[in-house]
Amino acid sequence: MALHIIDHPLVQHKLSIMRKKDTSTMKFRELLKEISMFMGYEVTRDFPLTYEEIETPLMKMNAPKISGKKVVIAPILRAGLGMVDGLTMLMPSARIGHIGMYRDEETCQPVFYYYKMPANKERLVILTDPMLATGGSACDAIKRLKEDGYKSIRLMCLVASPQGVKAVTEQHPDVDIYLAALDEGLNEKNYILPGLGDAGDRIFGTR
Ligand code: PRP
Ligand code: URA
Repeated sequence: MALHIIDHPLVQHKLSIMRKKDTSTMKFRELLKEISMFMGYEVTRDFPLTYEEIETPLMKMNAPKISGKKVVIAPILRAGLGMVDGLTMLMPSARIGHIGMYRDEETCQPVFYYYKMPANKERLVILTDPMLATGGSACDAIKRLKEDGYKSIRLMCLVASPQGVKAVTEQHPDVDIYLAALDEGLNEKNYILPGLGDAGDRIFGTR
C-alpha cells in the first residue's frame, strides 16, 4: 500500500478554511468539492494512456487518451457524498455506488444500513469519506467491497488520524490511501484532532 498526502498549497489553504469552526455550511461544501477535484488528479495520476490518430486543423497526430479505465466512485454515506461532485467533474462517466454506514455514538463501531454498487466488479473503486478516524468504517466498507468481488480499491479521505491509517494499512495493505492531511490523533470520543469536527453535520447543516 502507499500513503499519498496531497500537500499542494491550494489544497492546504482550502482545508484550513474548512477546519475553522465559523466556516458556513455553504462554504464548507463548496471547498470540499474543490479539494476533491484537486485530489482526483492524484488519485488518477497513474491511469494508463493509449494513443489515437486525430486531425488538428493543421495536421494529423497521435493524441493521448485514457485507455478505458473504468471507475466507480463509492461514497460512504453520508459525508462521503460531499466528495463525489468534485470527482465527477473530472470523470463524468464514472459510475456511482453508495455504501450506507454510520458510526454508533456509544461504541464508535460502524453500522451498515445500505449497499448498492454497479454490477461490473472489474472497475476501480474510489472509496470516499472525508474522515478516517478509528478506521472502522473504512475497513468495513473495504471488506464489504472485496466480498462483493471488487479487487482494485483506492481510499480517498480529507483528514485522517494515524490510528485510522494504521488500521486500513494493516487490514487492507493492497489499498492505497489518499489524504489532504494526516492529523495528530483522536480525542476520547474518537474525533480527529485537530480535525474539523463532524464532517456530515458540517456538509449537511444538521447540527
Ligand atoms: C463519520 C465519517 C466516517 C466515520 C469515521 O461518519 O464520515 O464515515 O465517521 O469514523 P471511523 O474512522 O472511526 O469509523 P458518521 O458515522 O458520523 O456518519 P455520517 O457521515 O452519516 O455523519
Ligand atoms: N467523524 C467525523 O465526522 N469527524 C471525526 O473527527 C471523526 C469521525
